[in-house]
Amino acid sequence: MPSLVADVVQPGTLAALRQPTLSFDGVVLRPWQLADQPAVVAAYSDPDIQRWHCRSMDDSEAAGWLAAWPERWSTESRAGWAVTLDDAVAGQIGLRTLNFVDGEAEISYWTLPSYRGRRIAPRALAAMSSWAFGSLGLHRLVVRHSMDNPASCKVAVAAGFPAEGVQRGALLHADGWHDMHLHARLDTDS
Ligand SMILES: CC(C)(COP(=O)(O)OP(=O)(O)OC[C@H]1O[C@@H](n2cnc3c(N)ncnc32)[C@H](O)[C@@H]1OP(=O)(O)O)[C@@H](O)C(=O)NCCC(=O)NCCS
Repeated sequence: MPSLVADVVQPGTLAALRQPTLSFDGVVLRPWQLADQPAVVAAYSDPDIQRWHCRSMDDSEAAGWLAAWPERWSTESRAGWAVTLDDAVAGQIGLRTLNFVDGEAEISYWTLPSYRGRRIAPRALAAMSSWAFGSLGLHRLVVRHSMDNPASCKVAVAAGFPAEGVQRGALLHADGWHDMHLHARLDTDS
């Protein structure tokens, strides 16, 4: 049954792009490197990152996670960047649940504990959103955070992602189901 609406982003668009390095207001987003393993292991030993991202990562798991990024890009399942400040890894940001038919993706981010409170995540979110709209051609980017995570809410609002509502019992965490706050930004938002 033919669709009467064209895909917003043609399959193969992401794979055909070379992963860029993005800069915004002093923060640099670059592709992950295998040498980033200690920073990733440190991140996933942080209780807040474990709580909100629902996973831990030992040395070999972090090595595998890092090595898989080129394949995630070429298969268009995810796109992820190391967020750096003065050449040191300060956080991560990425696109997941890429839906090219509707031109939508969900965003994941964290900032290492020692870098928090310095607007790393909002700056990274602004930089990646600009590329995702302007170069990849997505139409709508979504941030979802637990209602118990007000710091993430502030990041979304600061980067121009207004709140749209609450999804009840939408994501299972280690301590049970959480109501999730939905934020989104459109390519047409100024
Ligand atoms: C949420 C998070 C990404 C914010 O990143 P950030 O780079 O610190 O972003 P900001 O500097 O803009 O700070 C955002 C808010 O975090 C809170 N914050 C500030 N310093 C903080 C610190 N040292 N530790 C914890 N939270 C802090 C504040 O509420 C701040 O808002 P404010 O500046 O209006 O007071 C980061 O705290 C984090 O990685 N948390 C754990 C993982 C997580 O929640 N990921 C998002 C899942 S949806």
